[in-house]
Amino acid sequence: MIKTVIFSGMAAVALTAPAAIPLAINTDDVTLMLNVDDDGMLRQSYFGKRMADESYGPLDRGVEAFTTHGYTDQFEPALHINHADYNSSSVLKYVDHKVEEVKPGVTVTTINLADPVYNDAVSLVYTAYAPENVIACHSVITNNSKKDIELEKYASSMLSFYAPEYYLTEFSGDWGKEARMSSQPLRFGKKVIDTKLGARANAYVSPFFILSLDEPATETSGDVVLGTLAWTGNFRFNFEVDNQGLLRVISGINPYFSAYRLKKGESFVTPDFVFTYSKEGIGQASRNFHDWARNHKVKDGNGDRMTLLNNWEVTGTDFNDEKLIAMMHDAKELGVDMFLLDDGWFGNKYPRDNDLQGLGDWDIMEKKLPNGFAPIIEEGKKLGVKFGLWIEPEMVNPKSELYEKHPDWAVTIPNRDIYTKRHQLVLDLSNPEVQDYVFSIVDKLMTDWPDIAYFKWDCNSELTNVYSHYLGKDQENLYVDYVRGLYNVLDRIRDKYPDLPMMMCASGGGRCDFQGLEYFTEFWTSDDTDPVERIFIQYGMGQFMPSKVLCAHVARWNDDVKIKFRTNVAMMGKLGYDYNIHHLDEKELAYSKQAVKNYEKLKPAILDGDLYRLVSPYEGTHAVNQFMSKDGKLGAVFTFDIYPRWGENYYNVKFQGLDPSARYDIYEIDRFDAGDFKYGDYTGEYLMEVGLPILTGNRLHSRVYEIRKQ
Ligand code: GLA
Repeated sequence: MIKTVIFSGMAAVALTAPAAIPLAINTDDVTLMLNVDDDGMLRQSYFGKRMADESYGPLDRGVEAFTTHGYTDQFEPALHINHADYNSSSVLKYVDHKVEEVKPGVTVTTINLADPVYNDAVSLVYTAYAPENVIACHSVITNNSKKDIELEKYASSMLSFYAPEYYLTEFSGDWGKEARMSSQPLRFGKKVIDTKLGARANAYVSPFFILSLDEPATETSGDVVLGTLAWTGNFRFNFEVDNQGLLRVISGINPYFSAYRLKKGESFVTPDFVFTYSKEGIGQASRNFHDWARNHKVKDGNGDRMTLLNNWEVTGTDFNDEKLIAMMHDAKELGVDMFLLDDGWFGNKYPRDNDLQGLGDWDIMEKKLPNGFAPIIEEGKKLGVKFGLWIEPEMVNPKSELYEKHPDWAVTIPNRDIYTKRHQLVLDLSNPEVQDYVFSIVDKLMTDWPDIAYFKWDCNSELTNVYSHYLGKDQENLYVDYVRGLYNVLDRIRDKYPDLPMMMCASGGGRCDFQGLEYFTEFWTSDDTDPVERIFIQYGMGQFMPSKVLCAHVARWNDDVKIKFRTNVAMMGKLGYDYNIHHLDEKELAYSKQAVKNYEKLKPAILDGDLYRLVSPYEGTHAVNQFMSKDGKLGAVFTFDIYPRWGENYYNVKFQGLDPSARYDIYEIDRFDAGDFKYGDYTGEYLMEVGLPILTGNRLHSRVYEIRKQ
């Protein structure tokens, strides 16, 4: 049956509407089933395990796939448009769809919907990553009317679930305590996780959630959905259980103070909401995300990562040529790939000797570095150590030449006192002139010093004083246009310097989103380098993020912890040092050099392999992680006894992900002041069913086991 629908102001559009058009978004193991019903409405009828019977029937009509404000639905809408005639209702009817395989295993399904009265068009774009079992969804909203419209709510995705119980895990925290996991049941009503920080996604809560259906999922069991928004700004996940026990999850940019004005003919592309589903618990869902991140999202996701020595926790801003050259030698001594020079190298009129001034003036400070970076870079070349540099190009201290010249480039409210965070202001990236300036900082540094091999890009303030001197009456565009401006700059940097690795940082783990990671090879997981806290922080971030992107440094925090424990925690991420190696005694230094070598050897398992979280730090007093290389030949088990209780029972730790019939040699490696030790050899079945007694009652004690398949 062909229906012809005449859209006012548009050419006639043929609307194919048989009884129901099934639209299956499939990965290898997961299906999101949508249907166009004979009323032209798009409905979600199924989300879960991909089944052999692809009809998924008999299904009832399902629930609307992208609800709108003001017509029939009475819950939180995915879309709310205010039209010029004050009508703020929308109705979306199916127009057509297309399915394209964009690369092997990646299929994009675009479903075009439109409002028959106002012509507003909404495309729902689903990208299915088959082997990784990950789906990304975003919407594109186009103003086809004759006048401007205002987007009041513009979600990326809406998903519905129908289960007797729902359990939500969120990742809340603050500076120095990022991604703390806590769970709660969802009952009738709303639960919202959102942020209003503007220049980053995370400070008080990370842009992640875990949703368990029926009962709380474990690492190895349960129906579970992991979701995140790929957007370096305000996000919102809206969970609403309705009167019938149906859960709607609406994800997207936080609409808070962001009613976006869309001119006639313009389109608004929302960021991707990325999600995965597993019937085998959270561990598998995390591995899906890790694979997807490395294969499809993170900059140089399948490439190697450099180990490094950073001077921040060693010198702070108190350094000169001599000290930095000495640290180049320390880097060489340790055996790491790079020396990273942190904050404090710039500013002349207002020298950046502390965080009160100089930010924005990116000329090298002559009193500290009279010959620029040349002596340090040259020394590095001789030693075979690369040179990396800290920048914070989106920010300005009011006490700076930049601010004196361009006060209107900073985000400040004209008729109020300036409120600063860490004595600094955010530059207004909605302004193209400011974008050019921020790009020029990196471009000039790379032109003057082409040997810079790495940037640590910081962002130590959220958006405060929320007013743009550039946007005029469109102030509510600021939150969105800031992030878009940032992406413009990052696009230009990536185009010109495609192979330049960069660390994303925002007072620690404030930036930890996947869209940022399209431009950055890794991120600074937290300023908190206390190894005990890091076990928890890396555990939280690692639910979504592969260890390859989690910068983890051996540093000074927590005096009770010995060097081996510190190092073992950092070895589970992207290893670096923020440590004065002259504070290590002879044995500690010898151990550290060996640990760097061990890390190199274990990289195929840690950075590119599969993570199995065998013992959670949240369960008590220990933590154990197992990493297996993709070919299954090499593994590493990191075991931590944190603060064991007296008289605890130490149960065996059961391994995962092994071939039951293969035999494996287990070595304890990375021992302090001792060589490798063969622990035994076992079948995979034994290791997985019986496990090994590798927990102890020693406080702050760690061990590393290497698994070698025979
Ligand atoms: C932030 C970063 C630190 C360090 C300082 C420098 O706090 O997270 O690692 O670079 O800035 O000011």
